[in-house]
Amino acid sequence: MNNFRFKNPVELLFGKGQIANLQKRIAPGTRVLMTYGGGSIKRNGVYEQVMAALKDCEVVEFGGIEANPDYATLMKAIEICKTRNIDMLLAVGGGSIIDGTKFIAAGSCFEGDPWQLMGGRATAVKALPLATVLTLPATGSEMNCGAVISRRETREKLVFNSELVFPQFSILDPEVVYSLPNRQVANGVVDIYAHTLEQYLTTPNHTRVMDRWAEGLLQTLIEVAPRLLHEGQRDYNDCADFMLTATMGLNGFITMGVDEDWATHMIGHELTALHGLDHGVTLAMVYPGVMDIMRREKEAKLLQYGERVWGISEGTVDERIDAAIRRTEEFFSSVGMKLRLSDYGIGEETIRTIVDRFRQRGWNIGEHGIVTPEKVEAILRRVM
Ligand code: NZQ
Ligand code: ZN
Repeated sequence: MNNFRFKNPVELLFGKGQIANLQKRIAPGTRVLMTYGGGSIKRNGVYEQVMAALKDCEVVEFGGIEANPDYATLMKAIEICKTRNIDMLLAVGGGSIIDGTKFIAAGSCFEGDPWQLMGGRATAVKALPLATVLTLPATGSEMNCGAVISRRETREKLVFNSELVFPQFSILDPEVVYSLPNRQVANGVVDIYAHTLEQYLTTPNHTRVMDRWAEGLLQTLIEVAPRLLHEGQRDYNDCADFMLTATMGLNGFITMGVDEDWATHMIGHELTALHGLDHGVTLAMVYPGVMDIMRREKEAKLLQYGERVWGISEGTVDERIDAAIRRTEEFFSSVGMKLRLSDYGIGEETIRTIVDRFRQRGWNIGEHGIVTPEKVEAILRRVM
């Protein structure tokens, strides 16, 4: 097991009716910037619940944050924070809204262009406090201190991390899942599955505890995903497990003492930056490619994954790995994902752009930098 440091200060309020508790968590008179997206919260009743709970606060609304939140939009919110003396931020939405709000929180207190915070070029020294009401289980952003921000102008999508942007608390009411379209459930399922693999499919024999925890998350997703795709008939406990799996997949609890990969995510972010694809869609294409191309480096963990998650115990090493990859692809297809870049009209030119970008940035990604730009090229060709 590797040495590790663990810290997670986020308070979770989980379950039906928890949105009402905003009233107890945010003091009367607080100037709150309430951030949200394109309006789903106005159709599913979340907006009314939030506004009722904030009736004693001074609420400034900032809607219209897009999926894959854009720098230009967030800069407008930063301006509002400065001119309206905002005390705290409340993100009401999915990962895009929460990430965007983290950027607003740190960017409002940053001297200079907040884009410098992205990709680790500058460090946040102060941030406005923030809290969240989650409406889409997927990213784990409600209980971590990372954010992924897009800049459409330059076709970039970069990550920043700062402990200053851990939410103070997050409200997780599984009933918000009822209104999700299947497309977003599929994105969420694949994202959580990928987060778990990024922290699991690396080095063998690091820790039995983390391995079994990760396998439990994967098995839970495989069990509940087919039922969650029955739009309009979702069961509360399935929604609750879906939500808890998302939070547990990326809040640091399965990363203690293990190597992490994240190559699939870094490649996926480029596909979104260049083609606007949903985050989950990119992961469903790239992950099977990573498994295949990195099969020697990841051999022991791929065999363990195949056996413990999919019950694959017969055949040669390569036959078992092939079967594990096939089962993963079938699972992603079963929730409605396409598996090839060509399904989205993406080909040679994009592969060249991504590989060039990684070379220019000097990026060797994956655990211990094993995913070189040459491997990235092979991975993308495998899923063309
Ligand atoms: O904008 P509205 O109208 O609210 O609609 C949203 C949006 O169109 C809709 N939606 C959300 N909750 C809903 C709902 N529709 C009906 N009922 C509800 N209850 O869903 C659409 C997608 O929302 P979005 O927030 O973009 O989805 P997601 O949570 O998948 O977030 C994706 C973003 O998070 C980043 C991704 O890269 C991407 O930018 N990630 C953040 C991470 C983190 N901070 O730790 C890690 C992840 O790996 C990921 O990279
Ligand atoms: Zn993700």
